[in-house]
Amino acid sequence: MTTFPQGFLWGGATAANQIEGAFNEGGKGLSIQDVMPNGLATPPTEEPTEDNLKLKGIDFYHTYVEDIALFAEMGFKTFRFSIAWSRIFPNGDEQEPNEEGLAFYDRVLDELEKHGIEPLVTLSHYETPLGLARQYGGWRNREMIGFFTHYAETVFNRYKGRIRYWLTFNEINAVLHNPFMAGGIEVPRSELSESELYQAVHHELVASALATKIAHEIDSENQVGCMVIAVPRYGITPDPKDQLAAQQRSHSDYAFGDIHVRGYYPGYLLRELREKGVELDITDADREALTNTVDFVSFSYYMSVCEAYDPENYSTGGGNIIGGVSNPTLEASEWGWQIDPIGLRIVLNDFWDRWQKPLFIVENGLGAKDVLVSDPDAADGHTVEDDYRISYLNDHLVQVGEAIADGVELLGYTTWGPIDLVSASTAQMSKRYGFIYVDRNDDGSGTLKRYKKKSFNWFRDVIASNGETLQG
Ligand code: BG6
Repeated sequence: MTTFPQGFLWGGATAANQIEGAFNEGGKGLSIQDVMPNGLATPPTEEPTEDNLKLKGIDFYHTYVEDIALFAEMGFKTFRFSIAWSRIFPNGDEQEPNEEGLAFYDRVLDELEKHGIEPLVTLSHYETPLGLARQYGGWRNREMIGFFTHYAETVFNRYKGRIRYWLTFNEINAVLHNPFMAGGIEVPRSELSESELYQAVHHELVASALATKIAHEIDSENQVGCMVIAVPRYGITPDPKDQLAAQQRSHSDYAFGDIHVRGYYPGYLLRELREKGVELDITDADREALTNTVDFVSFSYYMSVCEAYDPENYSTGGGNIIGGVSNPTLEASEWGWQIDPIGLRIVLNDFWDRWQKPLFIVENGLGAKDVLVSDPDAADGHTVEDDYRISYLNDHLVQVGEAIADGVELLGYTTWGPIDLVSASTAQMSKRYGFIYVDRNDDGSGTLKRYKKKSFNWFRDVIASNGETLQG
């Protein structure tokens, strides 16, 4: 494989709420994640509870120096992390930021600079300050736009010249499926009207566009991307009705990229809203704001689904945010996510053809149950023989190489969870994605010690060879 361009940004991706811990240190306020001990499985609790593994995470708040050194040892060119909004504005509506929170990310950036690793920073990764969710109703409320842009402006100014690549909202299309996690809206999806939901979507889209504008004004070097969940949707049969169902369902994901890239609502979405009787409050200022389009499109990719005009006649499969009709030709992970490396090539070509904007794969990986075994050759005496992870990542990267050969412009590739972290959907530790094993169990026990898995050296070699060692 010789297709990966020089300067390709290889690395790993994380989110503050899944790694940092220290949920009440350094002046941090609570975020919605601090009251989600079971991920998406149960409604939020009133207060943080001790069984929420995210309160301690993998303790990155205290171990970032050693962890970043391990990423450097693998040769990372980039590291994606999120800024915990509630570290900077503890309740979310303050005027003055929390200096201790800002200083923490300065120290993280110091380490990255020391190792020549380019930061890739998400402003909001499923971690709306709890104060904004509970006092303001989350993104249903137009006031959220001002709170978010004030936060964005604060960090753009603070880290000017130190952070070049920014993502506004993680998986912004997830708000349609999980309004609390993705939108800070504490009303079950089933009880939210379509108007309330799409109004919240609209507020996030306007906030994203305004943040893009501010980023460019503060530093013309800033590169801002949107971030969407990419799930290719195949018609379950060649019947045009199934193909149309697949296209229409795809529109609900495309809409977010279309608006971020083109700067206005696409016709198919306007029709859908009309037919649902949704009337949105869209001001002239909002329309103007949306014209501030992104520099690149980033996405997560884990799986694909099938669609049918009569889905009740088929079995359905899982995913953390988006599910669909099962594909009989594909295997699934232990959590039921259907594994589809070729789907990644399809997504890359599809997005490139549609938007002609540089793309960035900012999440991809396999959540699996790992077993730590003794290994006399390993420095720490233990490792994980994770050939299944190597095989998953190799096969996806081979398809990435094919897409680049197809002409797709791709900035980089960051695997999800390069170090084991707490799962977003299930809040488990045992759903592991990392090249680095973290000794922590679902019951909270464990030393938090780090061990290199077999995939650690494998990914180091892939990066060092710029993809040459991949097996096609
Ligand atoms: C993405 C999220 O949906 O998938 C991450 O951006 C998340 O936060 C990742 O962790 C994997 O999902 P899960 O549920 O296995 O943690």
